[in-house]
Amino acid sequence: MTNILSIETSCDETAAAFIQSSARGIKVLGSTVASQIKIHEKTSGVVPEVAARAHIKKMSPVILSTLRKSGKSLDDVDLFAVTSGPGLISSLLVGIEYVKGLGLATGKKVLAVNHMHGHLYSPLLENPKFKIPNISLIVSGGHTYLILMKSKKDFKVIGQTVDDAVGEAFDKVAKMLNLPYPGGPQVSIYAERGKKDYNFPRPILHSGDFNFSFAGLKTAVLYKLRDEKLNPNNEKVRADISMSFQNAAVDVLVQKTIKAALKYKAKSISLSGGVAANKTLRSSLNKAARKNKLKFYVPSFALCTDNASMIGNAAAVYLQNGKKPSGFATLKVDPDLVI
Ligand code: KG4
Ligand code: ZN
Repeated sequence: MTNILSIETSCDETAAAFIQSSARGIKVLGSTVASQIKIHEKTSGVVPEVAARAHIKKMSPVILSTLRKSGKSLDDVDLFAVTSGPGLISSLLVGIEYVKGLGLATGKKVLAVNHMHGHLYSPLLENPKFKIPNISLIVSGGHTYLILMKSKKDFKVIGQTVDDAVGEAFDKVAKMLNLPYPGGPQVSIYAERGKKDYNFPRPILHSGDFNFSFAGLKTAVLYKLRDEKLNPNNEKVRADISMSFQNAAVDVLVQKTIKAALKYKAKSISLSGGVAANKTLRSSLNKAARKNKLKFYVPSFALCTDNASMIGNAAAVYLQNGKKPSGFATLKVDPDLVI
């Protein structure tokens, strides 16, 4: 059995989790996420320096609360896991330097985790018996990936966004509608009340590859508001625009994911990342997967947006894949780390 204390600080959530990995599976004993929403609301977005300072303040309390919830102490930890990238460099540095301190103080080893692997493997936490081949759609604030997974070790990117990530598009549409940060959840709430569909373009739906593009869709929303002189503070406008944008984005994501699953003869589809918390995306992809007799996996809501359980889980998968932990001295951040 391996006890892992994992830490995540890649953007604006300070998170820690205590994970137990054994032959029987991977178990989360305790998890804490300190959100910085209240702080970044004032600036309608994340200011990196402000995020880093908040991480510094919260790191120790978040770790202590996680150990308390787990009924464990630092002595019980076999291995530390920490997100090394991709993300904001100043935010990542806080987690990395903290873990270096823990490594120095305890002499214990460390595994650096790719944040995107955290999302990729997150559906496994609640569905360890993944049917493969699997097509995995990862939709976060900074990335949009379609991945073909033949095993936990053998996966490759088959499509990605050529411009904005889908979460970024949700956030930008929210800004156009003067909605508070973080925009994605706000747009999805307004979308539920929408009645009129403006039928926005479905970008590169028929491009023949598995890439995505959301910049054009975002611009279409901007032009619609401008050309029809729609008031972004009007509740009906907000609802209709949100629904129309969400319908277009979800339509492309679902259709391309299903096409990929059919092409690669997948047995299952999984969905992860912050935008996987979007109810319409979850239910539409679930429905489309079932129609095509494919298993569908999506983490529960708290495991979609950034958290440290997924980082500890990815570290446990790394160990299963034969990866060796390192000493803390070699740890370094890589804000542009690719999946
Ligand atoms: O994975 P995540 O927490 O952080 C990154 O790794 O980027 O994803 C954050 C993104 C943000 O763009 C946020 O607006 C979006 O996920 N998001 C949503 C919803 N909840 C979070 N987008 C649409 N609908 C939601 N319910
Ligand atoms: Zn993330």
